[in-house]
Amino acid sequence: MIVCVCRRISDRDIARHARAGMGFDEIQFELGVATQCGQCEGCARDVVAQCHATHPVAALHNEAVLPSPCGCACAV
Ligand code: FES
Repeated sequence: MIVCVCRRISDRDIARHARAGMGFDEIQFELGVATQCGQCEGCARDVVAQCHATHPVAALHNEAVLPSPCGCACAV
């Protein structure tokens, strides 16, 4: 579902970043969500909160847990 019509950002885009441990402000900076009309901010924040509730460790440490560029478990 598209959350931010202005920037064409879906709930899946936001959730992917939130599950990586990013907070709303970081996601806003990265994706540009809620940076134009602002109508989507509440919904975007809800998506982030839901993801942090289901992935509390990532949210607590606010660390990116995205796979490395090479696709293996190394920390490149
Ligand atoms: S709908 Fe997201 S900034 Fe307008």
